[in-house]
Amino acid sequence: MALNLIMLGPPGAGKGTQAERLARVRGIPKVSTGDILRDGVSHDTDIGRRARAIMARGELVGDDVMIGIVRERLERPDALGGFVLDGFPRTVPQARALDTIMDGRDPIIVVDIVVPLSELVRRLSTRMICADCGANAGSFADAGATAEKVVMPPAASATAAESVVAVQATTALGRCRRCGGPLVQRTDDNADVVLERLKVYEAQTKPLVEYYCSRPTFRSIDGAQGPDRVAADLAAAIEAARGPRRAESQGQSDVAREGVRR
Ligand code: AP5
Ligand code: MG
Repeated sequence: MALNLIMLGPPGAGKGTQAERLARVRGIPKVSTGDILRDGVSHDTDIGRRARAIMARGELVGDDVMIGIVRERLERPDALGGFVLDGFPRTVPQARALDTIMDGRDPIIVVDIVVPLSELVRRLSTRMICADCGANAGSFADAGATAEKVVMPPAASATAAESVVAVQATTALGRCRRCGGPLVQRTDDNADVVLERLKVYEAQTKPLVEYYCSRPTFRSIDGAQGPDRVAADLAAAIEAARGPRRAESQGQSDVAREGVRR
């Protein structure tokens, strides 16, 4: 049975981190709509030109464009044996379109990664990526920089009206461990855009939890733990969603394996 996995969760929840790790361990493609769009922007493709300003504002690219991209990608041969989707669907129309795309294929498993707002802001405001290959280099501290705290405006979301503290780098950053390229902040990780992305998530993407939660293949996991612990919980959630018999025979070994790998 193909593993067709959807990672849900707000910006900074760790969707990309966990999707990359799981795709490597399971030998299935990671399909990240954010990565596809950023690649389009950096190569100045037609889609990249259309998406650039929208992404810079922290808003969502149109459903028709995103559905077209994902339909084409999921129909490629390497995705027919399973995939992990990171960043799609993000709206109810996208979720409905995905159900149509998946008609006749193994059911999707949907895992929602739950992380408190203050931790999301901390992660996003300190994240560094490689300007050349796009790899996630972790936080400023991981990238060898010092940082100072800045207070961000309150009310990033309707449900968590709290002031949050972000940090900004005060020294130069290191180089990418994968390709040696320069480390930079993602253009949409500055304070104002982070707040906009969190608002957009609340308004347009969080309703997907309601859309999926009654399905037997829906699970929620605690993303406010170390990456290894999240990976172990994700593996357990997948096995539980696939059904009790498979969970008994495979779950323990998968949990053990994915809990120790990075
Ligand atoms: P996208 O690239 O999908 O961004 P996002 O959803 O805002 O999510 P992030 O990539 O910021 O967070 P993540 O959950 O992947 O976390 P990560 O693993 O990186 O989308 C960007 C833009 O593209 C959108 O705003 C929109 O404009 C457009 N777009 C994309 N898809 C679209 C769609 N379907 N429809 C319309 N528009 C679309 O982790 C974050 C940081 O935390 C990293 O530094 C990481 O090292 C760290 N971290 C991860 N896990 C942990 C942990 N367990 N503990 C501590 N730190 C951790
Ligand atoms: Mg991501």
